[in-house]
Amino acid sequence: MAAAQTTLRLGVNIDHVATVRNARGSAYPDPLRAAKLAEEAGADGITAHLREDRRHISDADIDALMAELRVPLNLEMAATAEMQSIALRHKPHAVCLVPEKREERTTEGGLEVAKDENRLAHFIAPLREAGCRVSIFVAADQPQVEAAARIGAAVVELHTGAYCDLHAEGRFAERDAELERLRDMAALAHDLGLEVHAGHGLTYDTVQPIAAFPQIMELNIGHFLIGEAIFRGLGPAIAEMRRLMDEVRG
Ligand code: PXP
Repeated sequence: MAAAQTTLRLGVNIDHVATVRNARGSAYPDPLRAAKLAEEAGADGITAHLREDRRHISDADIDALMAELRVPLNLEMAATAEMQSIALRHKPHAVCLVPEKREERTTEGGLEVAKDENRLAHFIAPLREAGCRVSIFVAADQPQVEAAARIGAAVVELHTGAYCDLHAEGRFAERDAELERLRDMAALAHDLGLEVHAGHGLTYDTVQPIAAFPQIMELNIGHFLIGEAIFRGLGPAIAEMRRLMDEVRG
């Protein structure tokens, strides 16, 4: 099946603005201010991960983002009862389920869906009924992609962390093999009726081969952009990522 649409959305993850704030227990820098700048710079959405330990984004940050953002919020969270009730209270545009504990991960680092299918199907049902687009963060691993489709998720987000690490370590043959797995899983997920997103660890050097997959509709990028913002400012850092993405999507 051919991909329906070539537009590629950029979701900017602002978690690490909160990491810098929390390092000093100060009120600044404010993740909401970063999110609004990202909106102005062309972000199609904002992503924030409310971790169980609240190490970066806080509950108050989610309140502020929900109240103030014009673009959709993608709330990343673990599949816990506490997070489910927070998501049901806010009803963000999208909820992306991510692993936070070692035992919830597949080898490559995505959510272990295949071994937890029943629980996850029940977990996402009320979120779907509340109108949230449920996304599952998975490794480029066929059983995980197939399980995500079976439990009724609307979206899979393919984990690009292994591909980016292999690139950074100069292990190019292994990087290319991982890229091939990502390409195959993007095609499979699309054929199974899932919308395909990707993210984790993407940089200016690694984004284009992923952005070139025609099935991918959204990239979620944070850590590199927040770091790059130190040198060129957040707006220009985002604009350059957007340019690189658009260059390969024509
Ligand atoms: N997508 C998901 C599901 C994530 O958990 C993260 C990290 O929070 C990202 C994308 C963004 O990764 P990075 O900050 O490395 O760009």
